[in-house]
Amino acid sequence: MSVANTSQLLLKNLSLLKATKPLFINLPADAFIDEYKREYPHAQLSFFNSHYGEYLAHQAKQHPCQFSHYYQANEIHDLIIIAFPKSKAELGYTLAMLNEVTDQNTIIYFVGEKNSGVKSVEKLAKNYLHGCQKDDAARHCLLFSGCYKAQAKPFDVDEWFVQYPLDIKGKTIQIYALPGVFSQERLDVGTKLLLEYLPDYTGKKVLDFGCGAGVIGAYIASSYPSSTLALADVSALALASAKQTFAANQLKGKFIATDSMSNITDLFDAVISNPPFHQGLKTHYQATERFLSEIAKHIKVKGSLTIVANSFLKYQPIIASKFISVEQAVKANGFTVYHAIR
Ligand SMILES: C[S@@+](CC[C@H](N)C(=O)[O-])C[C@H]1O[C@@H](n2cnc3c(N)ncnc32)[C@H](O)[C@@H]1O
Repeated sequence: MSVANTSQLLLKNLSLLKATKPLFINLPADAFIDEYKREYPHAQLSFFNSHYGEYLAHQAKQHPCQFSHYYQANEIHDLIIIAFPKSKAELGYTLAMLNEVTDQNTIIYFVGEKNSGVKSVEKLAKNYLHGCQKDDAARHCLLFSGCYKAQAKPFDVDEWFVQYPLDIKGKTIQIYALPGVFSQERLDVGTKLLLEYLPDYTGKKVLDFGCGAGVIGAYIASSYPSSTLALADVSALALASAKQTFAANQLKGKFIATDSMSNITDLFDAVISNPPFHQGLKTHYQATERFLSEIAKHIKVKGSLTIVANSFLKYQPIIASKFISVEQAVKANGFTVYHAIR
């Protein structure tokens, strides 16, 4: 099994990480955890992962892991190791949610690839940590630690949603998004193009795959009140945002946590997506390629798949191999909308 570079750095520093009740936030279920359990057999380990795929990997190893948009527990952790989040906006949120599970003795570690932004953790975390310092560097990764500063106010997740109105084709939808969720502040150019070329969803059962804050699903649900919407995403923060967007617009939907196709079981009349794209992470391609290869099985005969993607991505042949027809509905600003019939 491969061991993440960040886990190798943690392994190198295992002797520093002794604790009674450690909490591991968004760490992979790899050899670092196995080694930790061997080295500290009496420690009571807790896990939190907001990525559904990582959560499943912890479950497979019987780790007590929470998959949610924020961590909740009735105990104090003396050590918390956090994988530096992909978005800096998520850093403050992750630290704020720890207010109720820390005390003045809790040590927080941050581990991340050098190019992840972890270098600026001392500055970014200054309201939450004191004595923040760099402990080690190896395998292109950095390790920082500091002591948690108790926050004056209890954590309230509702205060962390960014809210903005979206005007699409004469319709106004209120969007709610937690830190780091796609489309957190404005409509994405690709999503905008996709929404301009929607098929007729009257009475259709529709899946919005990779729903983010629920922009696409909410627009369809409010434009076609007779449609039924399912929204799927790998991120607990995205799913919580999409739920909030639906509630605020008095819309109904079903929300599915899935890693690519792992939890997609239903049959739909139509699937729509602005799928995960390349962000320097190979897994984003893999998730989308698996989605494109397997989604046809979940679409009724004569049903449709409509997606938007960067024009340079070679998705058309993958779609064409599984669908009766696929056309480029529009190409603009570097994006292409593909419309396929099963
Ligand atoms: C380009 S964003 C689109 C978000 C939203 N539909 C929009 O248009 O604003 C892609 C979404 O795919 C989700 N995603 C990434 N990897 C995934 C995976 N393996 N399985 C399911 N969803 C994934 C991300 O969390 C993100 O919300």
